[in-house]
Amino acid sequence: MALRIRLLGDPILRQKAKKIEIIDEPLKNLAEEMAEIMYSGDGVGLAAPQVGLSIRLIVVDIGEGWKAYVNPEVIEKSDEMVVGEEGCLSVPEIFEEVARPKWIKIRYQDLEGKYHEEIKENYASRVFAHEIDHLDGKLFIDYLSLAKRRILMPKLNEIRKRSKAMIAK
Ligand code: NI
Repeated sequence: MALRIRLLGDPILRQKAKKIEIIDEPLKNLAEEMAEIMYSGDGVGLAAPQVGLSIRLIVVDIGEGWKAYVNPEVIEKSDEMVVGEEGCLSVPEIFEEVARPKWIKIRYQDLEGKYHEEIKENYASRVFAHEIDHLDGKLFIDYLSLAKRRILMPKLNEIRKRSKAMIAK
């Protein structure tokens, strides 16, 4: 089954994804496939629910090659917030400013099952916060003001229509 990007309106994007219990060869292959999809969409991160799999796996490449993060979670974050522009492969052609913590501390497993804790700062903090949000059914547009969302409504509805047409196939 070929994986494809799920768009806003697809219910899987709003589900809480399941914890991964077994890290095996198929999971590694899936991570690889996700990285390819991420690159073909010019993304810097991709979460499994975005390709229709409700499991806690993300891939990220912010300039050092792609890496997979299994069961990633934010365990600490700065009070200080930084505003920056974000987009999402599941909400195409929409780029808006979102406030994210200046840094976050994450905990995750690699594809060997080994646990890591790392601090991600600035741009990295933004990317990881965005991707980990996907695992809890959250999208960056959820952070926009009501006024902003109202302005974007026609565009968002257009994406929802496309999403519905894809699901119907
Ligand atoms: Ni996204």
